[in-house]
Amino acid sequence: MIGIFDSGFGGLTIFKDIERELQNYDYIYLGDNARAPYGNHSQEVIYEYTKQAVEYLFKEGCDLIILACNTASSEALRKIQEDYIDDQDRNILGVIRPLIEEALEVTKNKVIGVMGTKSTVRSKAYINELKEKDSNIEIVQEACPLLVPLVEENLEDSTETNMILKRYIKLLKSNNPDTIILGCTHYGFLQNKIKRYFGKNIKVLDSGKIISRKLKEYLDKHKNLVKESKDKKRIFLTTDSNITFNKAATKFLGKEIKSKTINLN
Ligand code: DGL
Repeated sequence: MIGIFDSGFGGLTIFKDIERELQNYDYIYLGDNARAPYGNHSQEVIYEYTKQAVEYLFKEGCDLIILACNTASSEALRKIQEDYIDDQDRNILGVIRPLIEEALEVTKNKVIGVMGTKSTVRSKAYINELKEKDSNIEIVQEACPLLVPLVEENLEDSTETNMILKRYIKLLKSNNPDTIILGCTHYGFLQNKIKRYFGKNIKVLDSGKIISRKLKEYLDKHKNLVKESKDKKRIFLTTDSNITFNKAATKFLGKEIKSKTINLN
């Protein structure tokens, strides 16, 4: 079974592509909606919350967990991987590595832009991992803290969102990146608009497609890590109201979702 964790709804943008690409597995999606957004919390809190979620998913029978949340991937992944280093049955992957690998392949002028939450930007996780792979890369980051609440409030198509988004994009554009990483799950909901505002000459990476393709490559290489399943279970868990979750997930995934509320504390 594969676990997909996010601080809330945003990870559904990643789940959708993973499920499409890798249909023959069982999945549990867990959104910690009650404690979202993670993006403004301290590193200690993000680690603590993510660890609780990961432990829950392992207890539910996951062999592999994907931290779809960029904030959790930036602030908690390495430490949690170390916590389970001696346990071969407990594997955790994040979303930063696949996105930077792709960005390095795509960029021509070696200037990569990263949009993310305050915590992701503060952690410098994207900068450090990119520089580790290529020290000549220039990275320009922009924290976009207003976008998550706008998406959570279903205001993707509002004039307020357009105005704020244009402002963030203008700041990034002034550094001439040719490749953009959407380093936050929620930005997937704004992807078409973000692509339009950056224009034809700047490539905005499609996080869901990249992560699902790289996950497929990973599972092909590690054949026995997760067993395929005839049941194709799809379990959805949230730490907040399951009615609210069902509504949002049903709308976004285009099929009826029945989730269950759980407590991580
Ligand atoms: N899921 C988070 C991320 O990808 C965004 C929402 C939040 O701040 O919790 O960074």
